[in-house]
Amino acid sequence: MFLRLRSLLLYSLSLSVFGLFIYFNKEPKKNPVPVTADKRNVQKKEFIFWATPKTKPIQCHPNRSTLNISSSFPEPHRLFLMYKHCRNFSTLLNPKECEKDTFLLLAIKSLPINIDRRIAIRNTWGKNQDFLNNKIKLVFLLGKTEASIPAQSLDQLLSYEHKEFNDIVQWDFIDHFFNLTLKELHFLRWFTNSCSHANFVLKGDDDVFINTYNILEFLDEMDPEGDLFVGDVISKAIPIRNTRVKYFIPNEMYNESHYPLYAGGGGYLMSRRTTQHLLATAETTELFPIDDVFVGMCLKKMNVTPQFHAGFKTFGIRKPANPLDPCLYKGLMVVHKLNPTEMWIMWSLVTDSGMQCAQSKKTL
Ligand SMILES: *[C@@H]1O[C@H](CO)[C@@H](O)[C@H](O)[C@H]1NC(C)=O
Ligand SMILES: *[C@@H]1O[C@H](CO)[C@@H](O)[C@H](O)[C@H]1NC(C)=O
Ligand SMILES: *[C@@H]1O[C@H](CO)[C@@H](O)[C@H](O)[C@H]1NC(C)=O
Ligand SMILES: *[C@@H]1O[C@H](CO)[C@@H](O)[C@H](O)[C@H]1NC(C)=O
Ligand SMILES: *[C@@H]1O[C@H](CO)[C@@H](O)[C@H](O)[C@H]1NC(C)=O
Repeated sequence: MFLRLRSLLLYSLSLSVFGLFIYFNKEPKKNPVPVTADKRNVQKKEFIFWATPKTKPIQCHPNRSTLNISSSFPEPHRLFLMYKHCRNFSTLLNPKECEKDTFLLLAIKSLPINIDRRIAIRNTWGKNQDFLNNKIKLVFLLGKTEASIPAQSLDQLLSYEHKEFNDIVQWDFIDHFFNLTLKELHFLRWFTNSCSHANFVLKGDDDVFINTYNILEFLDEMDPEGDLFVGDVISKAIPIRNTRVKYFIPNEMYNESHYPLYAGGGGYLMSRRTTQHLLATAETTELFPIDDVFVGMCLKKMNVTPQFHAGFKTFGIRKPANPLDPCLYKGLMVVHKLNPTEMWIMWSLVTDSGMQCAQSKKTL
């Protein structure tokens, strides 16, 4: 008990110490952890803590001929086009392979800086590693932090998180929203190499609440070797041509009037077969900056129709009269746009055994 308390203290201490580094951009001069009687242990941990991953970056040169057509585009679009042919980046942090009998992989896109969200997820809906006799694995998918944020202390914190929780996959590209398609591609490769036995995959954002019980109930008796792709599917979405909107796409990048059917990237569910097939297709598809649309483009090539399910609320739910009404969340599988506090509240609602609306067997 004492030891657990102490490591918790050390952890929160490091968190606040590093928080300060992040905000004031000061280099740590000395070991910030006080030396205790258990010095050897602490130092051993420190050694791991300070180790920064060393990998040789893979060379890929920008294609400057794209500047010809992109000179009037916003900066992210110019960067995207200039680096579009760069599709292979090295892995900086890699968790252990999934166990062979993993049933569901929860693959959550996160940013290096979103430590608070990862903590909330690990302590709420992400904490069940074994649920109703199904093995569940949680991983967070990260790129590199943008240079504008002091990166070094964040790297150290990430390598600590990696050692402590073994749930971080990080690749060597900038974690910009226009690089989410790169993240998708690298995730699919990681799945094939390290988690290919998992029956199903739920891919989502780090601000979603996932009701694992409802997901497992939905997957009951589904065949992982059949095609399955379910989410908040949008049909006939019109590309945004207004340069001031984040998701602006010029005609030069996509010239059709509608996007193919696609599921909102906040959270969707797919079978092992569909995931593997998606990799094969993505490898031969030109990258498109909006990742969920890119997946829609691949599904179209694969002749897989994404299925709509009302339990996936990836575009948020309309502010209800009583947001704390537990009946609201009954039957939902994925709810988007929650901050860590709301995640805790929702978790307490869903796990509350006295909850009137819950199915009788719902215990998370
Ligand atoms: C570079 O961009 C030009 C213009 O868009 C294109 O024609 C060419 O194929 C690109 N080269 C590579 C290596 O992607
Ligand atoms: C780039 O623009 C120049 C001038 O507009 C033009 O002469 C040239 O052919 C263009 N190059 C490509 C690769 O499109
Ligand atoms: C990138 O990796 C894929 C397979 O992972 C390989 O087929 C391809 O040739 C690589 N491309 C480059 C430019 O290295
Ligand atoms: C995507 O990542 C690459 C590699 O880190 C970087 O060069 C590029 O600028 C990033 N793209 C955007 C739109 O930031
Ligand atoms: C739309 O783009 C595709 C591929 O980028 C091209 O083959 C086609 O000719 C374009 N169509 C129009 C109407 O510009």
